[in-house]
Amino acid sequence: SDPGGDLPSDKRHRPPPAEGRTLSADRRLYERHFPLYKQPLEVGCFSLDARRNFFNDHRQLRYYVEPRRSPDFNLRDGYTSRFIKRDDGVKEKLDHMLRWILENRHKMQNSNSSSCALGVDFVTWRGHLTKVLTTPYETQEGWMMAACKFRGSIYISEVETEQARENRETRSERQEEMMYWGYKFEQYTCADGADGTPDPGGVVNTNEAFCTVVQTRLADHKLLFSGEVDCRLKDPDAPPAPGCYVELKTSAEICTPKQRSNFHRYKLLKWWAQSFLPGVPQIIAGFRDHDGIVVSVETFQTSKISQMIKNEYNCWKPTVCMNFCSDFLTFVKSIVKEDDPRLVYLFSWDPRRDVTYTVHRDSTHTFIPDWYIKDMTS
Ligand code: A3P
Ligand code: MG
Ligand code: MG
Repeated sequence: SDPGGDLPSDKRHRPPPAEGRTLSADRRLYERHFPLYKQPLEVGCFSLDARRNFFNDHRQLRYYVEPRRSPDFNLRDGYTSRFIKRDDGVKEKLDHMLRWILENRHKMQNSNSSSCALGVDFVTWRGHLTKVLTTPYETQEGWMMAACKFRGSIYISEVETEQARENRETRSERQEEMMYWGYKFEQYTCADGADGTPDPGGVVNTNEAFCTVVQTRLADHKLLFSGEVDCRLKDPDAPPAPGCYVELKTSAEICTPKQRSNFHRYKLLKWWAQSFLPGVPQIIAGFRDHDGIVVSVETFQTSKISQMIKNEYNCWKPTVCMNFCSDFLTFVKSIVKEDDPRLVYLFSWDPRRDVTYTVHRDSTHTFIPDWYIKDMTS
């Protein structure tokens, strides 16, 4: 049958209604050549102190100190007596990045036209992009991303899903403790100054953070995003940032072929996506046993991870991640057209489903604060 048969030819094949458009996350659709991804350029950085106060400088940047040949790191030490945990119920959205933008607007390559004040297509957190990149391979957790356009740039801020909130509020005591282990490993391997030594007797405070702000381009999308950086190499002759940055990780020790395969298939995907995006070249991993004792420390070159996993059957592919991300950003651009920060488009994805969206005006999803709009407009 011909559903448009009674219509004049110019009215046939009408596009579906706006909120009916969706984006498939089927990995088979994204096996194309690797898209252009420009070397990320650090345009600035900022620090958050023990009380989550913002500073437009690198005061929280730490320096990697190589452990001895057989380290004696007990990741359980100090839990809970020397642990101050950031309140992850407080949603900061893009606020710290927006603060950085206001204080560094002059540094941004301004594309003189007033239609785009920052000269970028997207402003977001690196962590949000990591979630988008890994979507074609994610089978457990969905996501929601709020997006709005302001002065020509689209801002993307994650919204916690019901399931994520439920998981966060019902974590087991073991899970809570294991979340500490990653930060404890950082304390064992990082010093505050280039000539300092780590202080494993100190307090682990997860409010403290050092963040890089990078500019790059994925296909035809100009991106500005910020990501937390664990530490840098102390060698003053190391390449300039982000080339000198190091991502620290912990993982369960690998004892069986099955464990190795799972590590390659699931963990290395997340590690690669997180570090590839901001151009962090190395990942240093502490492998620990069931009791939180580090049994070995290994370095992974981000650029070599895709080679390492190629022998895994039916494994993830960087090109699928990057093409999906590029197509997602194209999809967002095609929908977020109106320049109004109070108009929020909420993109949702659940495993085995397509990306869908809903539109919200002046709702609780509005996330660009008035102080940002006022300062940018003045
Ligand atoms: P590990 O990476 O060693 O697991 P990051 O590695 O991104 O710098 O994060 C530092 C630590 O924060 C992690 O150490 C982990 O302990 C904790 N963490 C980060 N993201 C998490 C998440 N989604 N769920 C649980 N813990 C998380
Ligand atoms: Mg970190
Ligand atoms: Mg880390």
